[in-house]
This record gives sequence, structure tokens and C-alpha cells, in this order.
Amino acid sequence: MQQIRLGIAGLGTVACGVLEIIAQRQSLIAARGGVELVVTRVASRTPKPEIDLLGASFSTDLDSLLADDVDMVIELIGGEEAALDLINAAVRADKLVVTANKAVIAKHGNELQDLRNTIGFEAAVAGAIPIISSIERGLIANRFEHVMGIINGTCNYILTAMKEEGASFADALVRAQELGYAEADPTFDVEGIDAAHKLAILLALAFDQPFNFAQLHIEGIAQVTADDIRYADELGYRIKHLGIARQVDEGIEARVHPTLVPNSQLLAHVDGVMNAVLVKCDAAGDTLYSGPGAGGSATASAVLSDVVSLAQRKGSNMRIASAGAEVSSVPILPMAQVRSGNYLRIPTKDEPGVFARVAQALSQHGISIEAAIQKEPKAGQTTVAIVMLTQMSSEADIEAAMDEVRELPQVAGEIVRIRVEGFD
Ligand code: HSE
Repeated sequence: MQQIRLGIAGLGTVACGVLEIIAQRQSLIAARGGVELVVTRVASRTPKPEIDLLGASFSTDLDSLLADDVDMVIELIGGEEAALDLINAAVRADKLVVTANKAVIAKHGNELQDLRNTIGFEAAVAGAIPIISSIERGLIANRFEHVMGIINGTCNYILTAMKEEGASFADALVRAQELGYAEADPTFDVEGIDAAHKLAILLALAFDQPFNFAQLHIEGIAQVTADDIRYADELGYRIKHLGIARQVDEGIEARVHPTLVPNSQLLAHVDGVMNAVLVKCDAAGDTLYSGPGAGGSATASAVLSDVVSLAQRKGSNMRIASAGAEVSSVPILPMAQVRSGNYLRIPTKDEPGVFARVAQALSQHGISIEAAIQKEPKAGQTTVAIVMLTQMSSEADIEAAMDEVRELPQVAGEIVRIRVEGFD
């Protein structure tokens, strides 16, 4: 049986998950995959003597993993620069590489040498969900229409808590931090950057593109309020933070933002820290994948799937996928040309004619109103919220209409606009 000697970089929760699973399942994996996994080296800047390294030698020097007794480097140190250096050094030293590092792949995938023959990154997107192998192998015979989903568990936890408990964004974030779902510095998650890294990877794989992280439109969830979640609920929608890659006639939409999802969609009911990815393609139709997007053993499960498949392909030059290599010429669509429905919440003075003026501004830009809510003002209240759902329009048209609405003397605060996905 082929033996694969592993060098693990990092000793965080995912690395510990990998060590634990190998300890428990080495013979099962060998029986199923035909490869015997042996951990020969572990390197981490912070030693953790309490962790069972399965007989591997330990060093605080990451370069120790480039030694001859390592066939495959598993990069689990996180961060960007040091991880990229290690991956490059490992590829140059003829090692296979497995990484969970979405930032490195999304931002540097185009420069990484021989990416899809030597580097596995299943664990970089949606944790345990085998979405990369589904796109690359399970759906290889398809043309993709869209790949979209909930790909940041922290945002999903926060939006779920806001919906279920009426909590504010700030309170839900603090809770997510207390429970260990959100980092002490939650910027990457709540501003949509983590989801954008993952979307850039999915987009490249599904649409045979380079890794286009810099061209993605990225919005986070900090502006979503409990009021918007309540209004959306009244209109039959949930607010989810989605990554969306969609092929339309003019190009590929690539965007990450809060989105109203109809209650009738399964995606609307994927709650808490769970992730879900909806894939629409021509032969297979619609497929939906859901599961934990983070966590030690869940992510380790994806890491080990890469370890085994890379080991099985070792020595073969078989093409795995065309992302970053054979690249399609379909352009990423500028955001102004993207089309979607819109949820609008417009705070206005409680005066006659406001609703009509807003409707007029929309109609002048060819935008039709699909639904609207306006509540009676409560006693003593001088402003009211006009809440509307519009039919599909281009970003350019809805932005131009909103510029006009903002100028109305009756508008009494920031207008909230959240895109709506109809899933047609
Ligand atoms: N921080 C990510 C999330 C998990 O909240 O989904 C790792 O990508």
C-alpha cells in the first residue's frame, strides 16, 4: 500500500482535528482510499506539549516540513504571507500541499504553480461541505448557471439571532464572540471578506475563470437592522448573507451582500452557523449542499478528503480543473449592470404625497413596485418608514432612482436598500 508522509503546519483546532481523525481512522482510510497516512513532522510557532503528535517530530521552524521525509505539507497556520511562503516553498520542493487557507487561494491562486495538480483546498470553502469536489468532479459534465449560498457561518449566526430574538447586530455579534463563533476581530467575517474569498474560489472553479477576488462586489451585514429583518419577514422573506456567482448573457455576476431570500426556498431556513450552497447547472439541474462551515473536526474532514485524493493522484498529470489555468473569456460584470429585485426602507416625514413622490422616482427609472408597507405612526412619532419591494432592475437604475429619492425634502434619514433574489 502507498504510504504518504504528512507534515502538518500549525497546531490549532483544525490541525488537532486532523491528528485526532488520523489517530482513530488510519486503517479505515487506508482500507477505503488505498493510502496509509503517516504523520512524520509537525511544525508550529507555539508548541503544545499536551497534543498527541502520533510519533511525529516537532519543530517551531515551518521549513522543517520541507525535509525529505515529508511527501505532503498540510498548511493550517492561517494568515496570508507566511502561509503563502510555505505553500510556494513546499511546491518548489516537489511536495503535494493541502490548505484550508481561502485568502491565499482567492488572492494568490493565479500565481501558485501547477495549482490544481499539486494543491488541495476543499477545506477553504464551506468547511465540511464537499463543494469543491462536487463542482470539480460530481458536476464536471455541466455548464453552471449559478453557484450561490451562505458561506459565512458567523454572519449566518448573527442574522439568525437577530431574527429569532429581535437582537441588534451589535448584541448578536457580542454573543457570537462569547460562543467562539466570531473572532475577537470580526472584520473579515462581518464585512463579507471571508465570504468573498470563498466565492472567488467557487466562481473560478464553476466558470473556468482566474481567481477574481479583486473584482468581487463585497458588502457585509453591519447595516442590517432588526427592523429590516421584521419587515422582510412580513413580506415573506428571510435576510441571509449570500455569495452569488451567476452567468448571465453579458457576463458573470460576482457579489457578496445581505439578500432577501423567499421563505419558500430551503436556503432561507439554513440557520445558525450552518453553511449552504445552491448550485444550478444545465444537466444536473438544482442541487443544494448544506453542513457545518467551520469547526475543528468538520474542517479536518475536508482536509483529509484532499489528502487522500491528492495521494491517489500522485505522479499522474491528470487535469483536475481549469480554474486559474485554461481560462474562459467571459467577463465579470460591472456591478452597475447587475440586475436584482430590491427591498427599500425609506424613513420619511409623515406628510401627504411622500409615497407618491417615491413611486414616481422609481417609475421614472422604469422600476415597478411589487409590494409596499407603511405603518401608522405611533403616538408622538413624526417620521414613518415606507418599505417597498421592487421588481428586477439594474443597479444603475435603482441607484439613480434612490439618488432622486434622497433629495426629496420629506426623506428623513438613511435609505436602506437590500437586494432580493427571486431564484428564477
Ligand atoms: N469564519 C468563517 C465563518 C469560518 O464564520 O464561516 C472559516 O472560514
